[in-house]
Amino acid sequence: MRIYDIIAKKRDGGELTREELEFFVSGSLGTIPDYQLSALLMAICIRGMTERETSDLTLLMANSGDVMDLSKIEGTTIDKHSTGGVGDKTTLIAGPIAAACGVKVAKMSGRALGHTGGTIDKLESIPGFRTSLSNKEFFDIVNRVGICVVGQTANLAPADKKLYALRDVTATVESIPLIASSVMSKKLAAGSDGILLDVKVGKGAFMKTRESAIALAEQMVAIGKRAGRHTAALITNMDVPLGRAIGNSLEVTEAVETLSCKGPADITDLCLELAANMLYLSKKGGTLTECRRLASEALKSGAALKKLEEMVEAQGGDIAYLRDTELFPTTPESGEYTAEKDGYITSIDAEGCGITASLLGAGREAAGDPIDPAAGIILLKKPGEYVRRGEPLAILYASSQIKLVQGLARIARCYNISNINPPIPELIIASV
Ligand code: URA
Repeated sequence: MRIYDIIAKKRDGGELTREELEFFVSGSLGTIPDYQLSALLMAICIRGMTERETSDLTLLMANSGDVMDLSKIEGTTIDKHSTGGVGDKTTLIAGPIAAACGVKVAKMSGRALGHTGGTIDKLESIPGFRTSLSNKEFFDIVNRVGICVVGQTANLAPADKKLYALRDVTATVESIPLIASSVMSKKLAAGSDGILLDVKVGKGAFMKTRESAIALAEQMVAIGKRAGRHTAALITNMDVPLGRAIGNSLEVTEAVETLSCKGPADITDLCLELAANMLYLSKKGGTLTECRRLASEALKSGAALKKLEEMVEAQGGDIAYLRDTELFPTTPESGEYTAEKDGYITSIDAEGCGITASLLGAGREAAGDPIDPAAGIILLKKPGEYVRRGEPLAILYASSQIKLVQGLARIARCYNISNINPPIPELIIASV
């Protein structure tokens, strides 16, 4: 078999066999040079893949490295995955709600990269919190507490890691079969019995239209089901950041507020729906309506907040910071961004806010860059609110004066203000 012939077959619109895909995936970790891998990725990007090809590619990438065996965990394990958003702290809220309802959440999460945040960086802003545990410790905590969140092991789906790095620099990220196989390879390797996908759509997401988000969700759900996992997806809006906090310790604080029933409505509603769907997938909570009721009770009773505290304590974190979030250190510099005119806020560019938070010190451009856990943004005003000229719209927290100046300049491009009060788009758009 020659990679040259496989590239030519896909270039001409052919369907690749499992053997050809296996040759490609195993070769991606050694024998095939980057220029041929990239050529095939571009051919796939332009020609697409059938459901069978996508499913085969996913399984081959999932099996290219470590595959977690969660059989030592008692009960049904459910994973939740968001395709990436700004201000997306849903794992810190929906995870504990689902765990308080009896779902086992054994989760591997990622770090911030580019304009999107990462759950691992958020959790590591809690002093002492450990995200690197032995498998035994991970299983013990899930069995005892119901939830544990750790970083991805270095050898999880290494073929995806290699191909994703090439896609990132060859304009081949935006391909539905490639995104679906990339996300699902890691989810299948992570081993949970069920997978709930939160597919983001809007200006701050990979998928810019409802149709493309639904197509991506359908492909991922089909892959999960073919692999024997209970899989479902919600399609949710990512035109504007979720909640009001963007940045690591700022988002932990907002998660605690939300679990104390004092959080923003958008994040509360979304997390309740995610937790209810996780419970529904686990088949432990009855109908979806009954699951929604149980999720809401777990939030209102304080059981979900207690779960977060138990998890943080089990992973070595200091829960004093959850009980009094003012203990989190703040940045040396902060400043307000104020309204330039009177009117209604019509939109806040989610991607722009993510870039601003990253400029302030909350994110990283390249893997391994240091971050400032206290840096970020609090959005004081969201779409639909009326503001007067000079009124503060956001507070920016920066690790240096120069970063603050850069952040203030960038956020100025994120807000739109108009005389007309626009309808607020639905947060939960569809489910698959
Ligand atoms: N996230 C992934 O893990 N892979 C993609 O291709 C896109 C988003």
